[in-house]
Amino acid sequence: MAPTILVVDDDPNVQRLLSYTLRQEGFEVSVVADGAEAVRAWQVERPSLILLDIMLPKLDGYAVAQRIREDEAGGNHTPIIMLTAEGDVEQRVRGLRAGADDYLMKPFHPAELLARIRGLLSRFAPSEEAVARPPSGHVIAFYGAKGGVGATTLAVNTAIALHRNVGRSVVLVDGNLQFGDHRVFLDLGLDRKSVVDIVSAPTIDAELVRQVLVRHDSGIDLLLAPPSPETAELVTPEALPPILDILRASYDYVVVDVDKRLDEVNLRIFDAAEVIYVVLTADLSSLKNVRIMLETLANLGYDSARVQLVLNRSTAFTGINVKNAEGALRRTLDHQVLNDYRAAISALNSGAPVLDTKAESPLGKAIVAFAQAIDADAMGTASPRSRARR
Ligand SMILES: Nc1ncnc2c1ncn2[C@@H]1O[C@H](COP(=O)(O)OP(=O)(O)O)[C@@H](O)[C@H]1O
Ligand SMILES: [Mg+2]
Repeated sequence: MAPTILVVDDDPNVQRLLSYTLRQEGFEVSVVADGAEAVRAWQVERPSLILLDIMLPKLDGYAVAQRIREDEAGGNHTPIIMLTAEGDVEQRVRGLRAGADDYLMKPFHPAELLARIRGLLSRFAPSEEAVARPPSGHVIAFYGAKGGVGATTLAVNTAIALHRNVGRSVVLVDGNLQFGDHRVFLDLGLDRKSVVDIVSAPTIDAELVRQVLVRHDSGIDLLLAPPSPETAELVTPEALPPILDILRASYDYVVVDVDKRLDEVNLRIFDAAEVIYVVLTADLSSLKNVRIMLETLANLGYDSARVQLVLNRSTAFTGINVKNAEGALRRTLDHQVLNDYRAAISALNSGAPVLDTKAESPLGKAIVAFAQAIDADAMGTASPRSRARR
């Protein structure tokens, strides 16, 4: 059964917007417009979560939260998210004191709201109500046209943004088997669990895969690359597709970071991927490699619509602009991520992803926008024109 969200707000526009967004994501929604009604609805309906505005007729949001917490008295805990006015610290503190579990400042992005809701639901009802719908299972690959274009930076941070800012469940796979560097990007020096542990087992099943995954503080799960280049050979081209299948069954997104080789391992990953994001920078060798990559995939019969071009460091001066690059490739660039070396390098060298410590940097914001575009595409809600212009 879908979790029920009780929306408490006296503004009809907010009511409409919230009901629409939540129903769209598979939640049941019930709406009331004043504080006294909210307490009554809570008693009768026992919602899975309450979205509670502060300024309400009859009882205000603080009083509602307090009343509910008193009535619960150690019994079942209904998670409450307070909707507060922007920048009002006092409101937030008072809300938390009154018993709210989280707060969200108005105006907020629907994706942010959904992420918070899912977070709270999984915290308070880990077994059954954690997700309102089955995982959507999109496999997406990030392929760097040459070393150093930023494929790993984008794969890691997009994975985190898809989880944190878009509210999806995400597993990140380091498909760079010989020189995978997610341990460096994510400061996991000593973690030995890797894909090698899966492929060396006599049989592969979902339980084994789950045990080998590493949980990152950001909330995404990781399947790490072999700890050394020698052990990479144990991962044969046939080994990865069944693992990706298992992962696809339990996550909204399986994000695979692959290196630039067009070898059998990578081609199998491309086979499994719904979309291949080819990351390039505006320089000749990168453009040449993208052309080779596109031709090779076309020769192998891949549908070119599954390939999307991502111009990274788009604002760096290279003497080649977007128009030149599109002319050379005879294709439009589907996405652009601006140049922000300061945020990128300090994140890398500290082992804290941009989205963790520099989420407000230009790069952090660009990656969140990119993740939102990916999600809109995957869910089939983006108009083709708006995407091409990004
Ligand atoms: N948008 C960006 N702006 C500035 N620097 C970037 C950006 N994306 C990546 N970098 C930097 O480029 C370098 C290579 O990135 P990396 O993700 O390891 O590339 P790849 O995986 O394609 O080899 C890193 O130092 C990284 O910090
Ligand atoms: Mg890389």
